[in-house]
Amino acid sequence: MSTILVTGGAGYIGTHTLISLLGAGYHPVVIDNFQNSKPEALSRVRQITGREVPVYAADVRDERTLARIFHEHPIDAVIHFAGLKAVGESVRMPVSYYDNNLISTLRLIQAMDQHGCRRLVFSSSATVYGDPARLPLTEDAPLSATNPYGRSKLIIEDMLRDLAIAARLGGDAAGTAWQIALLRYFNPVGAHPSGMIGEDPNGIPNNLFPYIQQVAVGRLKELQIFGADYPTTDGTGVRDYIHVMDLAEGHVEAVRFLLGGRGAAAPGGSFAEAINLGTGSGVSVLQAVRAFEAASGKQIPFRMAPRRPGDVAACFADAGKAARLLGWTARRKLADMCEDAWRWQSLNPLGFAQG
Ligand code: NAD
Ligand code: UD1
Repeated sequence: MSTILVTGGAGYIGTHTLISLLGAGYHPVVIDNFQNSKPEALSRVRQITGREVPVYAADVRDERTLARIFHEHPIDAVIHFAGLKAVGESVRMPVSYYDNNLISTLRLIQAMDQHGCRRLVFSSSATVYGDPARLPLTEDAPLSATNPYGRSKLIIEDMLRDLAIAARLGGDAAGTAWQIALLRYFNPVGAHPSGMIGEDPNGIPNNLFPYIQQVAVGRLKELQIFGADYPTTDGTGVRDYIHVMDLAEGHVEAVRFLLGGRGAAAPGGSFAEAINLGTGSGVSVLQAVRAFEAASGKQIPFRMAPRRPGDVAACFADAGKAARLLGWTARRKLADMCEDAWRWQSLNPLGFAQG
């Protein structure tokens, strides 16, 4: 079975994806510098799966380690999760964001090219759609960025599209087909059903679900709902929340797509396909709060607050392309996302810190 390099494999989406990859028979290899994660997360993956995954505790920007990994393992494809992802922080520290996100991707594709591995799954984001003009969002919608984090994703997408084109035209990468999936995630939430791994943000969470989870477990007092005057069903913001295990399975299907020849049918064999990974359903903040209360049996105190700058009213996917190209559709419901998130948070009130 194929060997898959997973950059950022110790993180939230990475750990869940390792479980799905192992379950599908792949051999993952991880590189992570633990800048935003803990080795304990990987120990939990070991406990859940009973399998040992080779781990390189290093930065993806470190060319020597990348060369060593490609030398020591027959890497067939790469899933590139590593990067920084906090929008507010990216506005305060743009240089760190461009340095980490752009340089790590450049070093990675150079190492891949040198070692003849040209199949890549890249973690993009629905943030590349900016403020949607039309919903649901299809992959051909206009792209824009409103902050350095989003701009780093957009630049990388463009760079990878250029690479696929160059390979077709005989430029830099002459004669070498690149097969690339640009996966645009909507809002990943929830946890593995074991409750042993889940999202463990540093400091006070910025995102809705981790915030609700910490209110439910008593670490935070009340939720502020950012905006009750949006043109939505109940006035609160609408998003497409997707269970992290559905997302993980989407990555396995993307790897199959790149390795399995379905992609080879594309013109010239060289492509960079953008694919939405979402459920296609919009859920409001109030609906999310109610669903979490039902799943946890806890009351979530909240108060209405002004809109958060940079937020859009509503954002949800047209998930048709993923179904057509990858044969993948999100299966888990909002109730599953809330139950699994609550199991993780209630069993691990301090995240991996107590592990
Ligand atoms: P995460 O922070 O939990 O995981 C990222 C991992 O990469 C961490 O373990 C971190 O230590 C590691 N890392 C960061 N920079 C590194 C470097 N230079 N070298 C080696 N390791 C490095 O984040 P996540 O939620 O799992 O997100 C994974 C990817 O998906 C990111 O690229 C993120 O931008 C993207 N994404 C996430 C979301 C989301 O809501 N979680 C939404 C859209 C896109
Ligand atoms: C945020 C990022 C986006 C990123 C996405 C990844 C911002 C401005 N955007 O998007 O770039 O791709 O995470 O998951 O940070 N909410 C509250 N109270 C809170 C937190 C959130 O009411 O304490 C509301 C928000 O206004 C929004 C919804 O909950 O309507 C979801 O927010 P969040 O989880 O932060 O995700 P996004 O805003 O979609």
